[in-house]
Amino acid sequence: MLERLESLRTDALQRVAAATNVDALRALEKEFLGKEGVISEVLAAIPTLPAEERRDTGRGANELKAALLEAIGVRKSELDEALVAALRDSGGFDPTLPPAAPERGGLHPVTQVRREVEAIFASMGYEVLDGPEVELDYYNFQALNVPFDHPSRELQDTFYCDDKHTVVMRTQTSPVQIRAMERLSPPFRVIAPGRVFRNEEQDATHEHTFHQVEGLVVGEDVQVGHLTWTLRRLLNELFGRELEVRLRPGYFPFVEPGFEFDVRCPFCEEGCRVCSNSTWIEFCGCGMVQPCVLEAGFEGRDDVDVGSLTGFAFGFGLDRLVMMRFGIDDIRNLMGGDLRFLEQFPC
Ligand code: FA5
Repeated sequence: MLERLESLRTDALQRVAAATNVDALRALEKEFLGKEGVISEVLAAIPTLPAEERRDTGRGANELKAALLEAIGVRKSELDEALVAALRDSGGFDPTLPPAAPERGGLHPVTQVRREVEAIFASMGYEVLDGPEVELDYYNFQALNVPFDHPSRELQDTFYCDDKHTVVMRTQTSPVQIRAMERLSPPFRVIAPGRVFRNEEQDATHEHTFHQVEGLVVGEDVQVGHLTWTLRRLLNELFGRELEVRLRPGYFPFVEPGFEFDVRCPFCEEGCRVCSNSTWIEFCGCGMVQPCVLEAGFEGRDDVDVGSLTGFAFGFGLDRLVMMRFGIDDIRNLMGGDLRFLEQFPC
């Protein structure tokens, strides 16, 4: 039997070395190492052998098994390499090259800054609210003290969704003020970032579709000082240092007094492109919430004593903040959908 094993070994190793493809190797593996293969046959015959041959035959069979497994592995690698080389040489196709990496998406610059703003307000205890982009005229205008015939509607012409103009694409995030009052109980502080729409001539600083962040705080004894402190804190956090600010009178039908809140340009001392050479940047509209707006928002709420409440509100353009942040000189790039532009702001 030992002689048979020796001749099996020579035969098997020669045939493995001569195999020209993986299928042939598999066939050899089955023939020698399979359940009903030659080596199993030898092992099964051991009990029939004379006692003195059994041990050496068992050991020889196991050694042959190990040697064959190794030889088959080596030959398989050789055949694989030869196949790859043949493919590479045949048509310029290199199967060893790594596959093209999948393209990774990123956050839009507006989303990046919106999240930053949300985090700053969250750290001041504000809740972040959402509101519908397709809005009732009531919330977008009427409840905000802008009746149908109010001249300020001219400044916020929009896209109307029905013949009677009762449903509009919202022109501002301010309608969320009314929705917040309807749902929440004072005292509360909320911000409402979101997309807004206006029938607007486009230029480098005006879009028809852009983003605002609304803020509303309602409670007892809320004052202008709370408003300015809050906006200053926001700007300090955003720009990493104390910036000079100023309030100018501003008209918005839903606040009284109303202000324009300006910030000293963070990029220059004597005027630059960002601040249109004025050293000031108009940051937002703001003011103390009109009592009639509080009444509209809390109408029918027995649990709320509207007369005891005051509040402040503000609304700023997120896109213009993004432009300041990243030095972008044309707002139309933001919603233009050009990946070559967006890829410059990876996140
Ligand atoms: C308003 O929309 C008021 N709702 C803001 C407000 C809220 C005042 C609460 C008082 C209390 P205004 O129309 O000025 O205000 O717009 C606010 C900001 O939106 C502007 O300062 C500007 O940054 C941005 N904005 C306005 N129009 C455009 C536009 N066409 N494209 C890009 N940004 C714009």
